[in-house]
Amino acid sequence: MARFAVLTSGGDAPGMNAVIYGVHDEATAKHAEIVGIPEGFKGLASGDRIELAEPVVSPAILSQAGTILRTSREADLRLGHVVADCVASLSRLGIDGLVVIGGAGSLRGVERLRVSSKVPIAFVPATIDNDIEGSEETIGFDSAVNYGVAAVDSLRVTAESLLHRAFLVEVLGANCGRIAEAIAAATPIDVLIVPERPLAQEEVARRMREALNTRYAIAVMTEGCGEAGAVARELGEIMGARVRPTVLGHSQRGARPTARDRRLGLACGRSAVSALLAGTSEDVVVRRGAPTLRPVGSPRAQVP
Ligand code: F6P
Repeated sequence: MARFAVLTSGGDAPGMNAVIYGVHDEATAKHAEIVGIPEGFKGLASGDRIELAEPVVSPAILSQAGTILRTSREADLRLGHVVADCVASLSRLGIDGLVVIGGAGSLRGVERLRVSSKVPIAFVPATIDNDIEGSEETIGFDSAVNYGVAAVDSLRVTAESLLHRAFLVEVLGANCGRIAEAIAAATPIDVLIVPERPLAQEEVARRMREALNTRYAIAVMTEGCGEAGAVARELGEIMGARVRPTVLGHSQRGARPTARDRRLGLACGRSAVSALLAGTSEDVVVRRGAPTLRPVGSPRAQVP
């Protein structure tokens, strides 16, 4: 019987639990054993493990953001001794294949671990940032974007009732503007401030002032472009009007997973196990196009 391990690493993302569910689902169906590693590479380095069976893996986790395995940014796989500890744990736990669910930093960690470990690793891209090369859309992105769209829509409700107000919304997304861009593509805003297309503050203020004169102004900025409170004050001074900041921040990571992220997560989780069973050690498990519409099933239904 093959024995696989699964861990989540880096910033949590809505839909990580769906990946875990998909991993468990496929492993159970294919009579493989699955072990959970708590707190990412930190847990792996310490040799920790969690039994992954009901009630830990239950249908309820599909609707929950975060990760039942918990995650960590602590273990630094640039350090040789940390890599050596991870390799030793994989051997001690008798692991035949590892599924790592995470973002860009976790992928770099996987690449370092692969140099020293013979255990095949399947990587599933899950980060709200959508910044993994080769992946059209990472798990968690859609949920974070929907959360941001709902926030902008709500601001518009008050803006349309109480005219001539200016709002600045700061969203997560590290140093890339993908979340902000996707929000702007789904709900109208007046100014988009992202690192990829820098705008002079005078220009932002000019556009906001123009919108404000006619009705109200809503701007969306990525965290990498500054701190909303300070930027709002500076813009307000140029505009001669108060700019009210809203920081969505980490609450975006706790967004309820959308059906899209759940389907994507389930599909990638199953594919990761299939890849390991097929003996291929894929760098990145990604889905192109929409995930297949396969009934989820309950873990109980899979028990032979
Ligand atoms: O996981 C990605 C992310 O949420 C980025 O959008 C953000 O810049 C970063 O993590 C925040 O990291 P931390 O949780 O360590 O503050």
